[in-house]
Amino acid sequence: MTDLATLALAVLMEPDAAGKADLSREAAALWRASNGAMAIGNSVPPDRPARPALPELLPPNEMPRRRGQSEAARAALLHAVQHIELNAIDLAWDMVARFTDADLPRAFYNDWVRVGEEEATHFTLLAGRMADFGYAYGDFPAHDGLWEAALATRHNLPARLAVVPMVLEARGLDVTPAMIDRFAKIGDETSARILNRILMDEITHVATGSRWFHYICARETIDPRMSWQELVEKNFKGLLKPPFNRAAREEAGLPEEYYAPLAAPAPGPNPKNGKL
Ligand SMILES: [Fe+2]
Ligand SMILES: [Fe+2]
Repeated sequence: MTDLATLALAVLMEPDAAGKADLSREAAALWRASNGAMAIGNSVPPDRPARPALPELLPPNEMPRRRGQSEAARAALLHAVQHIELNAIDLAWDMVARFTDADLPRAFYNDWVRVGEEEATHFTLLAGRMADFGYAYGDFPAHDGLWEAALATRHNLPARLAVVPMVLEARGLDVTPAMIDRFAKIGDETSARILNRILMDEITHVATGSRWFHYICARETIDPRMSWQELVEKNFKGLLKPPFNRAAREEAGLPEEYYAPLAAPAPGPNPKNGKL
């Protein structure tokens, strides 16, 4: 029987995007079917996972702005989320493959395998909706900032947990409700439903990150709030961007006193800021 680290490595090394999503689901199914008999194993994951030749990757400030209600504009917006989901598949399996020697219970691996499986579902749901519009992953440019935080935290599990689920995935909780509204307002209930499903799952991903971060802090008897703030300041470029979805963050086990001191000032005189 193979081991979990080998399965995780296979997902990371798969360059085809749809193939990566399929492998993610297959790996999760094999792990679950083994019913606790599969070894964790160990592996050395690559610094960067394999990716398809497209999309073209641009610096975040060079991304074209898409506005309007056309199918192309909607597909471009969904493509941006889909690109995040592909990164999220790799981030979940990298969490599994990279931290096999951290003396963690099997529940840790169960959790990140489930996250990897759900990210694959998100990718595939978005692929289906984009196909309705005649588009596929790779048809639009994407931005290349997403793997930086993974690289910065590759030797440090608490730092990885502090930054990837508790900053990057938490950011998804802040921005997705406005996207759902935007689709609902133009009557695209199908896209709105997919994004709502993603939002519900993402709350549990942030919660998973928070739970394991607090588990490690308790084990090492360090103050979780202070060490979270230190790790984020050290490993995440820039300030956290308001407005925050306080309710969803709270539900995910991310209290305001953790992130508020690291927040950038709310932009501009827009009275809506801070009230999302
Ligand atoms: Fe996701
Ligand atoms: Fe996620």
